[in-house]
Amino acid sequence: MKLTQRPRRLRRSQVIRDLVAETHLTPAELIWPVFVMEGKNQAEKITTMPGVKRFSSDLLAQEISKAMKMGVKSFALFPAINDSLKNSQASEAVNANGLLPNTVKMLKDRFPEACLITDIALDPFSSDGHDGIVKNGEIINDETVEILSKMAVIHAQAGADIVAPSDMMDGRVGAIRQALDQEGWHQTAILAYAAKYASAFYGPFREALNSAPKFGDKKTYQMDFRNTDEALREAKLDIREGADIVMVKPALAYLDIIQKIKHEVSVPVAAYNVSGEYAMIKAAEAAGMMDGTKAMVESLYAIKRAGADMILTYFAVEMAEWLESQQ
Ligand code: PBG
Repeated sequence: MKLTQRPRRLRRSQVIRDLVAETHLTPAELIWPVFVMEGKNQAEKITTMPGVKRFSSDLLAQEISKAMKMGVKSFALFPAINDSLKNSQASEAVNANGLLPNTVKMLKDRFPEACLITDIALDPFSSDGHDGIVKNGEIINDETVEILSKMAVIHAQAGADIVAPSDMMDGRVGAIRQALDQEGWHQTAILAYAAKYASAFYGPFREALNSAPKFGDKKTYQMDFRNTDEALREAKLDIREGADIVMVKPALAYLDIIQKIKHEVSVPVAAYNVSGEYAMIKAAEAAGMMDGTKAMVESLYAIKRAGADMILTYFAVEMAEWLESQQ
C-alpha cells in the first residue's frame, strides 16, 4: 500500500510510545483514602476491598510513612466509629477529642509535610447511616450544615490541610468557608465533592465504615446518574461558595462528567476512584478474569486523561509502586 500516514510508526517501541504519550501520572497526583479505627496495634481486613484495611492510628502512621516514601503524600482520612458512639444527632462528629481529630493531630505532628484531607459528612457518626440529620424520614439540610461547619473548624484546629465535604447538602461549602474564616482558618482549603452521584459503587466503602443507610437511599441529596447539567451547576455553585477544588465521584462511570467540568471551571478537578471500582478489579483478578495490575494502570490513566488533576484511589500505593517499577 502507498500510505503517507502510518500511525503505527509511533507505536513501534516502548521508547517511542513513551515519547508521544499524551497523559502522564505521578504519585504526587494520587490521594490515598485510608480508614482509621480506635485502639492500638489493630488492623482489620475489609472483606469487600481485598488489600485494604482499617488501621488503628499507630499502624496507620506506619502505612503513611511507607506511602510517603513512595511519593504518595496526600491522604483522605475516614473514621470507623464504634456503633456505641453513633446516634441520631451524630454528636461524635463534633467531638474535638474524637478519633478523627486525634488522629489528624498525631499524623500532622509526625508528618508535617503530608497533606491531610478530612471528610466532612455525618454518615460515619449517624445511627441512621445518612450524611445528614434525619427527621421524620427526611434528611434535614440546614441543621446538618450547621453541624458540618463546626466539624470543619474542629478538623482545621486538629491540623487538616483540606476539609472535604462529601455530604451533598445545599450551601455547605459557603457555610464551611465562613465558619473557617471566622475562626482564623483562612489557609484551610475546601475540596468539595461537587458532583457526587448516588451510586452502587460505594457499597464496599459502607462495609468499611459500617455506615450503610438504615432506611431508604441517598437519592434526595446525592445526584441522579442520568444528569450532566446538574453536575456543572453543582460545581459552579460550590466554586462560587468558596470551593478550592471540585470533585467528581465516582470516576470510571463518570469520565464524561470529569471532562466537562474540567473544561468549564478553572479550579483544580479531583476524581474519586471509589471502593466499588477498586473492588471490581480485585474481584476480577482473584477470579482469574483479567490482569488486575494492568486494569488498575489503565483505569487511573483513563481518569487522568479525562481531565482529573488529582485522583483519590485505594490503588495509590500500588500505583506508585508500579510507576517506580517503570523507571
Ligand atoms: C459518605 C461517603 C461515601 C464515600 C465517601 N464518603 C459513601 C456514601 O456516600 O455513601 C464513598 C467512597 C467510596 O466508595 O470509596 N459521606
